[in-house]
Amino acid sequence: MSKYIYPNAIIATAGHVDHGKTTLVHALSGVWVARYSEEIKRAMTVKLGYITIGLYECPSMEGEFRIVSDGLLKDGKCPNGDDPVLRRKVSILDVPGHEVLISTMISGISYIDAALLVIDASMSVPQPQTEEHFTALTIMGLNKLIVVQNKLDLVNKEQALENYKQIKQFLSNTWARNSPIIPVSSLHKVNIEAVSTLIDKLVPPKETSGGNFRMLVLRSFNVNRPGTPPDKLVGGVLGGTVIRGSAKVGDEIEIRPGLKLGNKYEPIVTKIVSIAIGNEHIEEARPGGLVGIGTELDPALTKADSLVGSVVGKPGTLPPVWSELTLEFHRIERPGDQSLKEVTFKPKDVIMVHVGSAAVMGIVKGFHGDKLDVILRKAVSAEENSKAVITKQVNNRWRIVGYGILKG
Ligand code: GTP
Ligand code: MG
Ligand code: MG
Repeated sequence: MSKYIYPNAIIATAGHVDHGKTTLVHALSGVWVARYSEEIKRAMTVKLGYITIGLYECPSMEGEFRIVSDGLLKDGKCPNGDDPVLRRKVSILDVPGHEVLISTMISGISYIDAALLVIDASMSVPQPQTEEHFTALTIMGLNKLIVVQNKLDLVNKEQALENYKQIKQFLSNTWARNSPIIPVSSLHKVNIEAVSTLIDKLVPPKETSGGNFRMLVLRSFNVNRPGTPPDKLVGGVLGGTVIRGSAKVGDEIEIRPGLKLGNKYEPIVTKIVSIAIGNEHIEEARPGGLVGIGTELDPALTKADSLVGSVVGKPGTLPPVWSELTLEFHRIERPGDQSLKEVTFKPKDVIMVHVGSAAVMGIVKGFHGDKLDVILRKAVSAEENSKAVITKQVNNRWRIVGYGILKG
């Protein structure tokens, strides 16, 4: 029996609605990550999608891009007929681009290793969510970006060059100014091997990390089909990203903030009964991949993403639970955007606070100097000094207005 090769990096998509993120993930993986009828019907990503792909070397392929991914293999062979040699696996997180789903995007990207910024070559740069997503990546301190100039089949050479110039201009004076820009057509699978090769070259394998196991919950499910008899029901499933340490089948885990009882939160304690990446059952969960953890919990507790934003760890090792936060606020300004310079907070203002994989609504209690006091609608479990991304409606659009450092 061959040993399971664990993915060793998480790469997220980013970019404006309909620029082709999910289509790119399909080109790379061969799989449509949109699984929800609503997503398929509206052709719009609503939830975080994830998929783990293999990166393979095709030894005698022509050109400089010889590393392909599953979506480019045909009958198990490289495009040139070579036998593919597996180099590694990586997990891809597909985020929604729609403006009202910016919180979902932010909650997905807090522990990623790189991003694929997808830009529609037939539109001017930046589109509003191109800018918001890039700002979110910047706040999270990301330092690896691959720009995918998509829909090349829709433009002529002059338009492609003009679009390229605008991308360069947009990224000038930022951490991403030297990022590669790859022209592709995701729909027609043109030049996708350049994307997979650059992922392999630019994103180093994550090192295994010590410390107590900790996982951020990005999705939670009841995987039982309606009508399953009680004795056949399987426990609730948590999907997420392991940020440090490791856990094995059989380990006891705690989930915070847990269940709200009156005004207090009770942590949930359960046991890991299975660990899976895609359809592969594995023994251990650790950083680098997006994993699913089967538990002994009543699936009613985990259904429909109800535990998204929770933190999982060994009992007694999790950070405190906060229902109110004091944040040291840092404004984000963008050149030429006067509306963000003028943003301020008044008592009762509604904001969204994003910490780890949690995105919760907050009501402003006060704002003095750089001290922002917020009452949360739902508690979060987070370490002191964590970074919280703050969004607020500005001219009727949810914008990233800054971030706060959690000061207890
Ligand atoms: P959201 O998840 O809603 O933000 O959209 P998305 O960025 O995931 O875009 P998606 O992949 O759903 O693609 C949007 C539309 O663009 C679909 O109709 C795709 O078929 C089309 N599309 C994607 N890539 C290409 C491409 O390379 N060329 C052309 N012509 N169309 C493309
Ligand atoms: Mg779409
Ligand atoms: Mg999509």
